[in-house]
Amino acid sequence: MSEVINICLIGTGRAGMIHGKNFARRVENAKLIALCDPSKESLELAQKEVDCEYIYTDYQEALKNKKIDAVVIVTPTVYHKEIAIAAAKAKKHILCEKPLAINETECIEMIRVAEENQVKLQVGFMRRFDASFQEAKKVVESGVIGDVVLVKSLTHGPSEPKPWMFDISKSNGPIGEVNSHDLDTLRWLTGSEVSSIYAIGGNYRSPEVKADFPDYYDTVAMNLRFSDGKIGQIDGAQYVQYGYDARTEILGTRGSILVGDQGKHNIIVATSDQKLTQPTMHSWMYLFREAYVTEDQAFVDCILKDTKPLCTGNDGLMAVRLVNAGLTSLLENRIVEVEN
Ligand SMILES: NC(=O)c1ccc[n+]([C@@H]2O[C@H](COP(=O)([O-])OP(=O)(O)OC[C@H]3O[C@@H](n4cnc5c(N)ncnc54)[C@H](O)[C@@H]3O)[C@@H](O)[C@H]2O)c1
Repeated sequence: MSEVINICLIGTGRAGMIHGKNFARRVENAKLIALCDPSKESLELAQKEVDCEYIYTDYQEALKNKKIDAVVIVTPTVYHKEIAIAAAKAKKHILCEKPLAINETECIEMIRVAEENQVKLQVGFMRRFDASFQEAKKVVESGVIGDVVLVKSLTHGPSEPKPWMFDISKSNGPIGEVNSHDLDTLRWLTGSEVSSIYAIGGNYRSPEVKADFPDYYDTVAMNLRFSDGKIGQIDGAQYVQYGYDARTEILGTRGSILVGDQGKHNIIVATSDQKLTQPTMHSWMYLFREAYVTEDQAFVDCILKDTKPLCTGNDGLMAVRLVNAGLTSLLENRIVEVEN
């Protein structure tokens, strides 16, 4: 393999073009050489942003191109599995957006086929690559807040859901589309696995889709118990309109950490000697935008160095297990035990 990884972006929509622009301009040792999307309109818009040698409307055609070393899958979640499996069989490394797939069976197959074909499979939980979240994890590991007791995390998305998101059999709804990030954050920050989950929710902002999609919910609140006794709380919402909101609070036996306003990228650490500290090295201008760049760079680096991705297929699987358990809890109004 050459020292430059040639990338094909599969899915040139909203999230796709974040990666597309990164690979075209910001990521070292990578070149965006191909775009693929069945929507000609989406492709035309993408081509105005990035210059690519190869343009495809069918991913199967793209995968025949021997110059492509790796694919970035940013299609609606329901297509992740078939595209990832075809890509692995074509020996292309894979960066797949979150959630990895719709259910555990799909994830397990994706992981197996990637392993069999010896290609990398990285999952797009970009918060793991965000400077503030990384720093919060370091503070947890330093022990300054004692033992972690409770982690609260919320994600509120501003935009109107895409039509494919209303059918929760194809999207799992906000627990998958929005809160898979929080579920991963809880696992990552605590280093523990969730043993039970209870979710309640409802559709408060899109009454017009209630007749066609009676199970669609735009807001959810979840209580989680970890197998080692820790507690988790997550809330999620789509179409909040006021802005993008992602906040995490980690309560320990001797202090707490807030990972707050992502626009400011600022963390506050409170300790038992009643001190509040705010690290000063952070730029107030950081956004998740930089986390995506770091994530995309890490993907290329793990291919070139032949190392394990920092966010693996198994992390994707574990988050999807919790997404499915949360959705079952919501639909059946009961606590769902999670096997580990
Ligand atoms: N990491 C994040 O923060 C983040 C943010 C947004 C979306 N996402 C994830 O990214 C994925 C896409 O979401 P989006 O909001 O960009 O959706 P989107 O609807 O804006 O874009 C999806 C694109 O995929 C294309 N597409 C559909 N079927 C395809 C196929 N078979 N082959 C190639 N392209 C195909 C569509 O035409 C569209 O252009 C979802 O899995 C979503 O959960 C992640």
